[in-house]
Amino acid sequence: MLYLLFLTLHLFAALIFIGTVFFEVLFLGSLRKQLPVKVMVLVEQGVGRRARTLMPWVLLVLFGAGLGMVWLRYWPTLATPLASSFGTLLTLKIAFAVSVLLHFLTAMVLFKRGLMNARYLQFIHGSVFCHMIVIVLLAKGMFYLTW
Ligand code: HEM
Repeated sequence: MLYLLFLTLHLFAALIFIGTVFFEVLFLGSLRKQLPVKVMVLVEQGVGRRARTLMPWVLLVLFGAGLGMVWLRYWPTLATPLASSFGTLLTLKIAFAVSVLLHFLTAMVLFKRGLMNARYLQFIHGSVFCHMIVIVLLAKGMFYLTW
């Protein structure tokens, strides 16, 4: 029952996080070409402010629930990650997730210090977008790919 709770929380947090990243890359990117610069700056500021207050909680639930599932079921699997295809793919998925967390923390530090600029932001969004695609493929692949 506790596992189901962690899995449900993990899924909801994942869909909010992945949805936000996809929105920022696929929608905001193209809006930039259609809206006047001043309007776009306001939109990006509003979206950014909301993301910076909501995302730390979403990440806390995402990583907390992920760690909870590992603690309940996958600890022995992760102890020998190369012993099974599932263990290998789950280990890779967690490594990519940690990399996402590092991207997020870097962005927060850059914002706090006033060093964030459009180039850094575009790079971080693009990189996290690619991470999301890999993580989703690994998250599902680990249950269906075997070798
Ligand atoms: C950016 C971070 C993450 C994202 C976007 C993410 C996303 C996902 C998704 C989409 C699934 C598939 C769920 C399903 O369809 O049943 C999944 C499963 C899983 N994730 Fe994550 N995850 C992230 C981080 C983590 C972390 C940090 C851990 C562990 C420390 C973790 C552990 C797991 C486990 C064990 C499953 C398998 C659950 C099951 O079906 O039994 N995840 N994740």
